[in-house]
Parts: sequence; C-alpha cells; structure tokens
Amino acid sequence: MEVEGLTHVATYRREVSASKERVWENVLDWEHLPWLHDQSFRDLEHIESGDWGWRVELLPASAAANSKKMSLELIIDASESRYVARTVAGVGEGTEIWTTVKPVDAGRTDIEVEFHLPGVRPEQTAALGGALTTLYTRLWDEDEQMMMLREARLAGPAGPIEGTIELGTESSLRQKLPLEVELGGRPYWVVELDGELVVYSAICPHILGPLGAPGPGGRIQCPWHGYQFDLRTGRSCDGRKRRLLPAPELMIDPKSRQVSLRAG
Ligand code: FES
Ligand SMILES: [Fe+2]
Repeated sequence: MEVEGLTHVATYRREVSASKERVWENVLDWEHLPWLHDQSFRDLEHIESGDWGWRVELLPASAAANSKKMSLELIIDASESRYVARTVAGVGEGTEIWTTVKPVDAGRTDIEVEFHLPGVRPEQTAALGGALTTLYTRLWDEDEQMMMLREARLAGPAGPIEGTIELGTESSLRQKLPLEVELGGRPYWVVELDGELVVYSAICPHILGPLGAPGPGGRIQCPWHGYQFDLRTGRSCDGRKRRLLPAPELMIDPKSRQVSLRAG
C-alpha cells in the first residue's frame, strides 16, 4: 500500500503460533509495552484506550534520561483486519506502521507489517527498513511467547484442583528453594519468606502471566504488565485490587519433617 507523503521502507512478514483472538487481544494491550518489551520501551503513560485502539506516551528504552516522550496511537482500521500505529509526536513523528492480521487456522495467524516513514532520503531506506524489521522481529517474538503461554494456560485445567505432592524432608527442600512444582497441571512456587516455607501460584491473576520467585521483602512482579504482589498478604502492593490465585496447603509432618502440598 501507499501512504501519501511517506516512504515505504520495508515490509516484515511472519506467521505467529497464536489464534487471531490472542493476536487482537495483544494488539489492544497497551499495558505490556514497557514490561514485556522492556528492551524496546519505557516510562509509559496511558492517555486513552478502548475497542478502537489506544493512545500512550512513552520513551524508546535507549532514549537519554531527559528525552521528550513520543506520543503514539494505535487505531484499528474499519476493515478490522488491520491496524495502524502512528507516531503523533516526538522521535519519528509522522511514521505510520500498518499491520495486517490474517488467520491461517485456529492456532496460527499471518502478520504483515509495513513501515511508512516521513522525510526519508533514498540512501537511508535500506538501513531504516532493516532496523525496523529487527525491532519488529523481537517485538513479535516476545508477543508470540506471551500469546502461546496464555493460550496454553486458557486450555489448562479449570476450577479447583485436587491432589498431593511430596516434597521430601524440610531440610532437603530448603536447599532447593526457590522451587517450582506442579500440582493438578498448574505451576506453584515454594519459597522461604522470613524463614518460613510458603507456597503460591506461579500464574498471575491478571491475564495468566508467569510469576517468578519473589524479590526483596516478598514482593513478586509479573513480567508481562509489571503488576506487583506482596507474598505476605497475597494482595496487590501497587495500589491495584487483586489477589494471588489460590495455592495448595503446605504441610510439614511434625515427626518426620516431611513436606507435602495438598489441594482439595
Ligand atoms: S499477566 Fe498482566 S501483570 Fe501478570
Ligand atoms: Fe507487543
């Protein structure tokens, strides 16, 4: 396609292993930009969003400390099979990146990204096209990992789980911490907090992202959107109102000091 006044510097095509539902969900998800794509973006400020798309201000991850933020908008085209990301102000102002989304089958989607830039001299075209293709390869790699894991989680067991797993003696377990375990097809972390053994769900209550081991003070931060949880209370510690998902009970046999996780 042609965009008036802009130069088409490259087209990037790929297939992603995700359904079109996951792709569109990801496209509308402005919140993941500085977290999942922390190598590319930082300091995001949400301006507005809806079914139509979103507007944000942010910085490229590599920008100098006092740089002016870019104003970026993403608008879904009336055809509902493509969208445009436009740099409204800041570095790259006037750039339009058009992406067409075509389902291949229930679990795969074709993506075609066209980069249209203002003020490009002919000798710059190849370098600019190459840099944007490299950036978008990384962004879509990161998005694909997220969409695949979310799809797997959505297809996983639903409702309360039942079962028991034995984790060995308390002293041997403490040497393996933090330890990720699975019960009833769901992942959990066993960790030590202030000397006590604690178990929690490794699935983020937001949209099922992968929670890791806690940082200092028992704070857990999700890598997909940066939501934070306090392991002591199981509640958000970033002003949101969420709770960690239910976890099995951790039992220690008083005599043998054998540790087990029990659910149901
Ligand atoms: S899935 Fe969004 S913050 Fe965890
Ligand atoms: Fe993304």
